[in-house]
This record gives sequence, C-alpha cells and structure tokens, in this order.
Amino acid sequence: MATSTMDDYGGTLAGASVLVIDDEPGMRNFLTKILEPRVKRVEEAGSPKEATLKLDEAHYDLVILDNLMPGGTGLDWVTEQRRKGFFADTILITAYADLETAIAALRAGVSDFVLKPFRANQILSAVARTLDRKYLRRDNTLLLRELHAGSPRGKLLGNSQALTDVRSMLARLAPLPTPVLFTGASGTGKELAARYLHQVSDRAEKPFVAVNCAAIAPDRIASELFGVVEDDDRLKPGLLLLADGGTLFLDEVAQMPDQLQAALLRVLEDKRVRPVGAEREIPLNLRFLFATNADLDAAVAEGQFRADLYHRINVMRIEMPPLRDRSEDIVELAAFFMQEFATTLGMPRLDLDEETLLKLRRYDWPGNVRELKNLIERSVILGEFPEEFAGSGAVTGAQAIENLDLVMQRHILHVLDLCDGNRAEAARRLGVSRKTIDRKMAVWVV
Ligand SMILES: Nc1ncnc2c1ncn2[C@@H]1O[C@H](COP(=O)(O)OP(=O)(O)OP(=O)(O)O)[C@@H](O)[C@H]1O
Ligand SMILES: [Mg+2]
Repeated sequence: MATSTMDDYGGTLAGASVLVIDDEPGMRNFLTKILEPRVKRVEEAGSPKEATLKLDEAHYDLVILDNLMPGGTGLDWVTEQRRKGFFADTILITAYADLETAIAALRAGVSDFVLKPFRANQILSAVARTLDRKYLRRDNTLLLRELHAGSPRGKLLGNSQALTDVRSMLARLAPLPTPVLFTGASGTGKELAARYLHQVSDRAEKPFVAVNCAAIAPDRIASELFGVVEDDDRLKPGLLLLADGGTLFLDEVAQMPDQLQAALLRVLEDKRVRPVGAEREIPLNLRFLFATNADLDAAVAEGQFRADLYHRINVMRIEMPPLRDRSEDIVELAAFFMQEFATTLGMPRLDLDEETLLKLRRYDWPGNVRELKNLIERSVILGEFPEEFAGSGAVTGAQAIENLDLVMQRHILHVLDLCDGNRAEAARRLGVSRKTIDRKMAVWVV
C-alpha cells in the first residue's frame, strides 16, 4: 500500500536482532538504515565467512541473506550453518529467482524470499511477517507448557511488613541481570514472586519460562533445555533459546540431576548453550531465577549439590516468609481467593465473618498460602467452611474486613492484658512477631 508508513511494523520488530549478509556495501547500508531505527540491533557481514564469525559472537532472531556472493552462495552457507547449529530465521534476497533457487531455498528452510530490487516497505513487511511467525511459534510452545503446568498467576498480595520488604527487594533487583534464589517453605509463593520479578523487570515483554528440575526426564533434559540438531538437520530450539532475552526460572533446583548441574554451571559461566548435536555454542541473553524449598546448604554439605554451582546461584537470596508469620495478610488473601473462586466456579461466595477470619488467623498454615487457597476453594465448592473455621455468621463480607482491625485491636489488647503488658509474651501467644505488636500498638496507643 502506497500510504503505508514504516511504523506499522514497530511492535514485532522492536525487540529483534538482525544480521544482514550481503557483499554489496550499498545494499548493506540500505538495509541497516531502514532497520536500525526499528529493531533492537542490526549488524552487517560482507561475506559468508564474516557472517559465521558474527554468529559465534551473538544470537540473531533473523538473518537477511544475499544469495550470490564471491565467497559462496547464501544457500550453501545456510545449509552448512544449520548443521553447526543455527536457530535464526532467514530471508533470502536475490536478483535471480529461478525455480531451482526457490526449491533449494525451501529445502534450506528459508522463511521468505524477496526479489531485488525491492522497496523499503517490501523488505520491512517480509521481516515483520517472518518475526510474527517466529514469535507465534514460540509463544504457542511456551503457552502450551504453562497450561499443562498449572502455573500460579496473579498479583503478589499482602501488606504485612514481611511481604512489603520482599516486594521492595524485588523492585530493587528488577532492573539488574543478577540471578536470584527464592527459598522458603512449600506454598509461600516462591514461583509467584519470581513471576512478579520478571513482570516488573525490563524483560517483561520477553518470555518467562519455568522449568521444574524434578519433573523433567533425565534423558530428555539436555534436548529440552538446550535444543537439538536432529539427523536430518532439523532444529528444535530448547527452552533456553525460546526464553532468549527473558527470564528462565529453574524450580526445585535441589533435585537437579548431576549432568544438568554440570551443564548449567557452564551456561551460567559462559552465557552460551550448545544444542545436542550442534558444533556451535549459541550466545544467549537470559536472566536466571531459582527456587527451592529444600535446604541447599545441607545438600552441598552432603555432596548432593555442587558447591561451585551453589555459589553461582546464591548471589541474592529471597526468603519467602511463612504465612503464620504474617497473619495480617490472611484477610486480604482470603477475601481475594473467595472472590476468585466464586467467580471462576460460578458459585456463591461464603461470608468471611469475624469469627471465621479470627480462626483463619490463628491457624498455623503449614501449607502456607497454597493451603489457604485450597481451603477457600474447597469451602466454596462445599458451600461451607470446615467446622474448625466456621463462624456463627454475625457480621459478614466487606464489613467484616473493615471491622477486623477493631476485633484485632480488642483481641491483642486483651492478650496483652493477660500477659501483664509483656509484648514479647503476647506476641508468642498470638503467634505473630513482636514487631507486629509494636507496630499495631504504635498506631492504636497514641
Ligand atoms: N502473596 C501471594 N498473593 C497471592 N497468591 C499467592 C501469594 N503467595 C502464594 N500465592 C498462591 O499460592 C499458591 C502457591 O504459590 P507458589 O506456587 O508460588 O508457591 P511455592 O513457594 O512455589 O511452593 P512450592 O515450594 O510448593 O513449589 C499459588 O496458587 C499462588 O498463586
Ligand atoms: Mg513452586
């Protein structure tokens, strides 16, 4: 279309890295000039040989390739590169479009074909089309995995001091490439916190890929993670490559098999992956997040986890607090899960009355937030809370939440009274931290 502006392609192109391979400097300049303002990075190579060196240095999403060059044809070059490990998509640009070349291009796995001479918008729309398809394939693969994994999603709720501290630490770490290790008991929200970190980082537009180290079959780990060049030179990109530019979350790291520990250490040190059967190591840009609910120090001491890998992943550690130490968050979480399950299950909400809320707060939640979430789901389905949490139904819903502060105040002051004003003792009996009591008292007792 004559009126089409080049900015129509902005969305897809913005994050892409492109390599332009052509022996004519004029053509390289032209392509660089139109791509540079629209893509993340564009590089040039004047010969197949130079292009090979560029690929050893960096990974590209897309290669724009001239066919006839003094150093050999572009198609021969692509075919050879695929054998070595070449995961970029390719657009072939050529002045000679005979049927034979077209068939050879198809065989070499070229994504698109543009005849020289071309106008800027012709090549830009070929680039946008190719990248669109590439990202659709990637997102489809990753979304299908997510769907099967039943990953946690949603906001990282909670206004307790402990969770506020976690959130501000995450905000501080967000812009950095530093690896982060999430520790804490099961159900405390380690994966949710990792997803939150990705969302508030500058990688949010790129993929977040979660891998459960305990769930992946040992004989398939390498090809799943690092990709594979199959016998017929077909390429299957691994999860690390699909996550390029984004965040890779390795869950249950303590259960990582030995070979994976060794391979991962190399990836963390060199920032490169070698697909199974490939000659080339592909440079990647990934941020690594890790989680475990096991005691990694003990695993290292027992020789089950490599000490060198441990030091690499334990740069910044975030300990997710157990729910019983932040019972202030329970009202918000319970109200949120109640709303969520009532909506998704299409069933009536149950009243969270004062008594129920107090009982929920007093329970010690060994399964943490997951246990609370499951309890609410079960109760919505059954139409009532289990006996140990049921209230008499006096005050309900939003009003109860508003009133809760009052109830809490009455209750804490009462317990303090019983302990002759000893705050440490009252904190112990209430199952909250001393800090919580101090904070509440500072607000109540003016
Ligand atoms: N702060 C929170 N706000 C809202 N939902 C939460 C919060 N923390 C945890 N959840 C929910 O609780 C469940 C468990 O969270 P998550 O899977 O992140 O826990 P985990 O620490 O990874 O547990 P495990 O060690 O068992 O894998 C999820 O459904 C998650 O959405
Ligand atoms: Mg988890």
